[in-house]
Amino acid sequence: CGIVGYIGPDQAAPFLLEGMSKLEYRGYDSAGIAVFDGNSIHVEKSVGRLNILAKKVEISPLAGHVGIGHTRWATHGRPSDANSHPHTDCTGKFVVVHNGIIENYMHLKEKLLAKGHKFTSETDTEVIAHLLEEYYQGDFEATVKKVLENIEGSYALVFMCQDEPDKLICTKQDNPLVIGLGEGENFIASDIPAIINRTRRTYILSDGEMAIVTKDSVWVTNRQGVPLTKKVFEVNWDAEAAERGGYEHFMIKEIYEQPKAVRETMTGRIAKDDNGINFEELQWLKEDVTAIKKIAVVACGTAYHAGIVGKYLIENLARIPVEVDVASEFRYRSPLIDDQTLTLIISQSGETLDTLAALKEAKKLGSRVLAVTNVVGSSIAREADQVIYTWAGPEIAVASTKAYTTQLIIMAMLAIYMGSLKGTLPQARARELCQELRNLPSQVHELLEDVEPIKTFAQKYGFNEDVFFLGRSLDYAVALEGSLKLKEISYIHAEAYAAGELKHGTLALIIEGVPVIALATQKDVYDKMLSNIKEVKARDAVVIGIGLKGDKEIEKHVDHTIYIPATDKFLTPILSVIPLQLLAYYAAVTRGCDVDKPRNLAKSVTVE
Ligand code: G6P
Repeated sequence: CGIVGYIGPDQAAPFLLEGMSKLEYRGYDSAGIAVFDGNSIHVEKSVGRLNILAKKVEISPLAGHVGIGHTRWATHGRPSDANSHPHTDCTGKFVVVHNGIIENYMHLKEKLLAKGHKFTSETDTEVIAHLLEEYYQGDFEATVKKVLENIEGSYALVFMCQDEPDKLICTKQDNPLVIGLGEGENFIASDIPAIINRTRRTYILSDGEMAIVTKDSVWVTNRQGVPLTKKVFEVNWDAEAAERGGYEHFMIKEIYEQPKAVRETMTGRIAKDDNGINFEELQWLKEDVTAIKKIAVVACGTAYHAGIVGKYLIENLARIPVEVDVASEFRYRSPLIDDQTLTLIISQSGETLDTLAALKEAKKLGSRVLAVTNVVGSSIAREADQVIYTWAGPEIAVASTKAYTTQLIIMAMLAIYMGSLKGTLPQARARELCQELRNLPSQVHELLEDVEPIKTFAQKYGFNEDVFFLGRSLDYAVALEGSLKLKEISYIHAEAYAAGELKHGTLALIIEGVPVIALATQKDVYDKMLSNIKEVKARDAVVIGIGLKGDKEIEKHVDHTIYIPATDKFLTPILSVIPLQLLAYYAAVTRGCDVDKPRNLAKSVTVE
């Protein structure tokens, strides 16, 4: 989502709309603005693209010098006029825009409903407006602080209050927020592109900071009210670089967004006390999980690779047989699907035509369809019986990264959930896995801290024309994704092989100097994998090993080693894919390829 705010001598609405248009690359499905007209706050919002809102505002202008705006990328609640931001309380005194997810909103909403608050949307955000109303005793700032004490989750928030219209209050936690410093006016935005035409002097807010913004001043404190001195950050990016948050490409920006994306996918789905997974979307499964005799996973491209990981996890933890098909094959092989089959459709965009057609085919055959997608309200989300959203945020680069890792998180959570329901997964083991899941965001972050060795490999081997990826069990699934990443953006011919299968043909292609990426994170097949590494080393391949931190053995057999933090064997793919994404990225950069828009490929393929 995108956030903007204005306070100053100009009309607010034109700036808000212009700023929001600069955030279009973040993708949105609805938009809204709120402006104080001297007496009260007026809100205009609309589902659909920004120009629909702009037309509404053209017909009935919102006059005033202070206002906030929001473009929405739906997470909780489908795209609709009512679910669009800004949200207000019952009296219309308070207005709020929000990016992120309020984890405890259901609990808060129940309490507020019991006190007589009337809700008009399905969003988590609306509870914030009602909380402001509930706590207000004449002091806007104190009320905001009290609200912040009561909400949990991730957010960038901007608040307006009709009784104190000379200020905007904003704060953030795990979501970006910047303040643009002007002369006699100030700006607020979730992202720099929204303000870059008006000012290049900014304060970048950190987690837990709160700012009171008037037209002449910006007062930054921590949440306890202790004043903080902020350094002015001068933005020297051009407009295009600003869209990418200063990164050279969307792909690398999205790779770096993974700690946050992975965390948000788990938000509200892992019980606080670590007792296991809770999928609100899957209440029906609780009634009779044993009715599912088989799961058919259907997807394309990267999503298909997430499905292969899903197969390992679900079969191991929930002991339900899983088939995985690429969508374009599934439809034409008269699949054995019936009402005892759960078809699991995975699609980042929710629009891939082959996948959508497979979904319809499965439904026709009587199967229940569960979709895992990143786009709320997409065709696949609408057609499926149930939907689990990945909440990765918009993905722009053609090569999928954060959508994939969040799909993996869903696969793991689904496997734990089903295993717990079926009783195939002991409670203690489920708890252990949940704990490891919780560690993943910081472990992904750790992996992204030191990319220099990977950059060096990419520069050294980026001009080879063939690369092989080897792995066994889950490492093989990751090898498939690593190889696809490299092919699609760097145009290097890459093949992924189940390491044990190498000797049945492909070994003939291993000659001196051919780079081989060998994944060896799975203990139960570790020795076998080492033998495979020795096989390729004996043919003078250059081997880059991917191992678990603490594994000193692997170094003895390979040319270079990349370590990933130790985690449960079922969760390693979420970490081991990160160096492979980076390797593909830096190889593509080394070769001067158009990273975000590789030749012949499209982000969303809506043809058969
Ligand atoms: C295209 C994209 C891939 C993606 C595949 C499936 O080929 O380039 O990155 O994995 O479609 O897309 P979906 O949106 O269904 O996950």
